[in-house]
Amino acid sequence: MIKLLVVDDQKDMRELLKDFFKQRGYEVFLAGDGNEALAKVEEIKPHLVFLDIGMPGLSGLEVLPMIKQKYPVTKVIMITAFDDAQKMEQAKSLGASDYITKPFSFEYLHTTVLNKVYAQLFEEIIKAYERLNQQTIQMVMAFNKAVDARDPYTARHSEEVCEIGKRIAEGLKIPITQDLIFSLQLHDIGKIGIPDSILLKPDKLTDEELEIIKQHPRIGFEIVGVLDGFKYVAEIIYCHQECFDGRGYPRGLKGEEIPFEARIIAVADTYHAMTSDRPYRKALPLQEAIARLKKEKGTQFDPLVVEALIRVLSSP
Ligand SMILES: [Fe+2]
Repeated sequence: MIKLLVVDDQKDMRELLKDFFKQRGYEVFLAGDGNEALAKVEEIKPHLVFLDIGMPGLSGLEVLPMIKQKYPVTKVIMITAFDDAQKMEQAKSLGASDYITKPFSFEYLHTTVLNKVYAQLFEEIIKAYERLNQQTIQMVMAFNKAVDARDPYTARHSEEVCEIGKRIAEGLKIPITQDLIFSLQLHDIGKIGIPDSILLKPDKLTDEELEIIKQHPRIGFEIVGVLDGFKYVAEIIYCHQECFDGRGYPRGLKGEEIPFEARIIAVADTYHAMTSDRPYRKALPLQEAIARLKKEKGTQFDPLVVEALIRVLSSP
């Protein structure tokens, strides 16, 4: 319920506003002067304040910045007995959302003034959502850099796999969703949990070491799965080492049991690994990499995904 505080030294005005807003479902609180208003704001943290300018003691223009400094999201509408343009400008510069001049009609208050406040709130919510989204993207990038920083030979691996994955999605004519991007970037985050002695070992891994490396999809699933809103990304990460024919790990899923994003990661990841230098071998030429992907069509990889990559690689 919207909490509204009416601050006016005139009791009649307070009561009128209270009745009007109560009937419309607001939770209404009252204050008769500036000090009482500040105490009430502290206590109830209202969403909206109607604040009279001309009051004995602290004036509305003195109370306004005190409210806005502490609770910047609280909307304040000034009430004034005189249409004083200069004072209204001052109130706006101090953070007031709008003002009304006494006497005013309640209909005007409801339809015009409040609609303006709601429009402002809506804009702020959208901006806050965009900020949050931006922070999420930055957080994923930070994770991503943490993974890539483990091994100088695979630096930028996640970012480049992400670019290849996006091109595959374009080739498949499917939307490039945020889940797809995040899972491409974070697919190997579980490698954070693999010891350096295994992860960075230049020689062939023993069977035991391979078993430890194979833990990385599960570790990644557990890391990312703690984040609300990343449950599906975690599931994709869990599946990115599965093979189309069911011979992958960790669960041996096959075909469409594997989320299609994970099937894209499998191809993008392998293609990038084949075409990058490693301490123990040089990058493969493009044609050879393509030939190897074709060979694994239907076994390791989803044929449609391999074909999409080949298509985008051969298009300018
Ligand atoms: Fe992986």
